[in-house]
Amino acid sequence: MAVRTASAIPVAARVGGFVYAIRNIVAEARKVEASGRRVRYLNIGDPITFGFKTPPHMIEAVERAMRAGENGYAPSVGIAAAREAVAAESAGRGMPVSPDRVVITSGTSEGIELALTAVAGPGDDVLIPVPTYPLYTAVLAKIGARAVFYRTDPSRGWLPDVEHIQSLVSPATRALVVIDPNNPTGASYAAEVRQALVDLADEHNLLLLADEVYADLAFDGPVPALAALNPDAPVISFSSLSKAYLAPGWRAGWMAVGGTGRLDDVLGGIKKLADGRLCSTGPMEHAIVAALTGDRSHQTSFRHALAERADITHARLNTIPGISSVRPTAAFYAMPKVDLPPGVTDEAYVLALLRETGVLCVYGSGFGTSPADGFFRVVFLAPPRELSEIYDLIAGFTGDFLSRRNH
Ligand SMILES: Cc1ncc(COP(=O)(O)O)c(C=O)c1O
Repeated sequence: MAVRTASAIPVAARVGGFVYAIRNIVAEARKVEASGRRVRYLNIGDPITFGFKTPPHMIEAVERAMRAGENGYAPSVGIAAAREAVAAESAGRGMPVSPDRVVITSGTSEGIELALTAVAGPGDDVLIPVPTYPLYTAVLAKIGARAVFYRTDPSRGWLPDVEHIQSLVSPATRALVVIDPNNPTGASYAAEVRQALVDLADEHNLLLLADEVYADLAFDGPVPALAALNPDAPVISFSSLSKAYLAPGWRAGWMAVGGTGRLDDVLGGIKKLADGRLCSTGPMEHAIVAALTGDRSHQTSFRHALAERADITHARLNTIPGISSVRPTAAFYAMPKVDLPPGVTDEAYVLALLRETGVLCVYGSGFGTSPADGFFRVVFLAPPRELSEIYDLIAGFTGDFLSRRNH
């Protein structure tokens, strides 16, 4: 007999572990906006919302595909031309793979989820950096594997602490996540650290997930594939059109699975999982071909614009009493630290900043740092003049906040 009750349908326990501060905090911003204050959204790394434009030849490729009737399901691993383009791109970055080892995905995000789902489950550990891009903790919560955090060190330009990673490896460790260049810190890693990371994965037989979505956005020029440093290591490289090709809404990404036979089963597992979600967005797969084989002059001007904004960010944040910030060398993020008085959290600081100035950043604990450490992430995509206004607001607010809290 059916039970009639007015109680809510219960939500699965795993949802509780799925936290994504970058978007969660927007609910608070909407309230501030409703009160009539202008909000400056520095929470999401989306260049389009700050006026950067998707290259026209990519838009034309999508339009051409749609008009030519390419609107059906694509193969679950992606269309052949896109897989070939990614394989050629990967070879050009020092990681030769055959097109058969490429899977086209709905953004880097889906690639990461497919790969983690294929290798880890309950009882397994995955090593991820702190601070981390929160998708990693969110996916691990979903699949029931444990996130084991390794340190990255702000006093050394946010480089990973390789000894700490070594000390965390156990028989339960399945994978090591490396985000280089990094979100949220804006760091790009030194050659010797990159070599140590890939060698460690090789020695311990760990899958290395190389999140290389910002590889073309290091201010000094594109970063080669991490896998290039050790062709025997079990590495999967992930990237997409979202950042360096200015098309985040298209959800067009890819993964290149390293050539070692050690990854054959994982590749098979990923393809099996990919079958279940049918395919990534079909017309956008044509834009992957256009992007990777066509003109990329936009990247030069984009890198230049980012470097200029990074300089402003670094200079302005470090002149605010109580704030220190490491100079970003890639992408569009900085991770400053505010010296908070005891008992005050990074979230309290960021929420007060939002309510009093309309400037929306994300608190460091949303990326896994300790709430007392006072880190917060700034997205510095806004035009230089607006950035300057934003740093004026942060400076004025921080002075007041710290003097109120310290007395
Ligand atoms: C480090 C990192 N990985 C992955 C992603 C997700 O990218 P995509 O849009 O390709 O899914 C982001 C987006 O901000 C990111 O910063």
